[in-house]
Amino acid sequence: MAVSQIKFYYKNVTAEVIGAEHGITDSQLKELAEKTTPLIAQLNTERKAGKTPYRDLPFNEQIPAHVMALADELRPRCENLVVLGIGGSALGNIALQTALNPYMYNLDDSQRRGPRLFVFDNVDPAQFASFLDWACDKLDKTIFNVISKSGRTAETASQMLIVRKMLLDKLGPDGFKNQLVATTDPGAGTLRKIADEYGLKSLEVPEGVGGRFSVLSAVGLFSAAMCGIDIDGLLAGARDMDIRVSDTEFFKNPAAINAAVNFHYYKRAKRISVMMPYGYALKDFADWYRQLWAESLGKAKTLTGSKVHIGPTPVKALGVTDQHSQVQLYREGPNDKLFTFLQVDNFEKDVQIGPAPDCAAELDYLAGKDLGKLINSEKTATEFALLKSNRPCVTISFDRVNPYTIGQFIYLFEVTTSLAGGLFGINAYDQPAVELGKEATFALMGRAGGENLAEQIKPFARLDERFIV
Ligand code: PA5
Repeated sequence: MAVSQIKFYYKNVTAEVIGAEHGITDSQLKELAEKTTPLIAQLNTERKAGKTPYRDLPFNEQIPAHVMALADELRPRCENLVVLGIGGSALGNIALQTALNPYMYNLDDSQRRGPRLFVFDNVDPAQFASFLDWACDKLDKTIFNVISKSGRTAETASQMLIVRKMLLDKLGPDGFKNQLVATTDPGAGTLRKIADEYGLKSLEVPEGVGGRFSVLSAVGLFSAAMCGIDIDGLLAGARDMDIRVSDTEFFKNPAAINAAVNFHYYKRAKRISVMMPYGYALKDFADWYRQLWAESLGKAKTLTGSKVHIGPTPVKALGVTDQHSQVQLYREGPNDKLFTFLQVDNFEKDVQIGPAPDCAAELDYLAGKDLGKLINSEKTATEFALLKSNRPCVTISFDRVNPYTIGQFIYLFEVTTSLAGGLFGINAYDQPAVELGKEATFALMGRAGGENLAEQIKPFARLDERFIV
């Protein structure tokens, strides 16, 4: 196992640090270990039985080979890569790019290792129009990667239809065929049908892997590979984390402890889980985590069908920025949150602070120090302040942010989610509540078969004058 392992630090949830009212006592930790240990074994068994296909992604050699072959083919003629997708078909792509490519990647050619990357996970017309105005005379150098497992998601389908028309109008049928890559179900669905009909290049969302667990499949790997990210490093990190999170010894298993700590606090009225990265690179992983946690754990029923309406609320914050917007609430508001800090020990690059002018000697203490020291001091300072207010905190620290450590992080949180699902007694892999909104959109947009639902929506859509001021 390579040296740079991410570390999970949980002393700051213990009663020893924040007191017995809010902290976890030794006996509570022992109880959590007893409750969680069988779930680790159960998950390992389910995995062997093929019930958690996401866990096999880092070991699949065909996916990266296929992704790399397509990336090698397309990169020479691609200056702009546009991902069209939403939810699990977009958040991982965004998070990988922010984490593993420089901040100015799109704007500074000297910092780019591949095409510019744009990910559209919304249907805001003004945003999309602005992009299309820019891209319309660059279409021959632009590849569109449409990602949709189902192939029928209204947002992604609409974007795809807009782009298809534009490609057909500007470049003809070959343009549509050559500039579009479809990532979708291997055998079924609307996008697969279109890909087959028009001979589009395509990649697969493996069977049984839900969107939010798919970043280590072609869904996340293709844009990463196109943009010069070492996808083998990502997968190696996930494989090495697989060993750690399969360990049936609770106190050696970071996913088990993380799931158990979250479960403990949920049951004790701390139902908000704040992820706060101290490092811009990790910012969008807080977004990715938010979807993973919310869609997986927010459920109405247990596995046995009892009504529970359960699930912690994930919140993203960014250190140091949100110290100046959220920390007042986090320290003095209700003690109803668990904080997960993400810390980076060594930044890819550091910047030294310049000398203070003579008239501002009070700034001397900053002069000559690195920004890396400042951001990490602020993390320690904020955590210290939260602990002084008896707020529980855990930290995941990265020696460095690189593909290998990011692969570990992704896999750690995916397995943490599965184990948390076991503790909450719910199905972590479905999302039934998302469906009604999707069906209602279809109905409002006039899809055949949605007439009845459209009628049901009318009274809610019609504004009641009595309540308008
Ligand atoms: O995690 C999920 O399953 C969802 O967020 C989906 O990824 C999202 O709804 C998009 O679905 P699809 O990939 O089918 O277009």
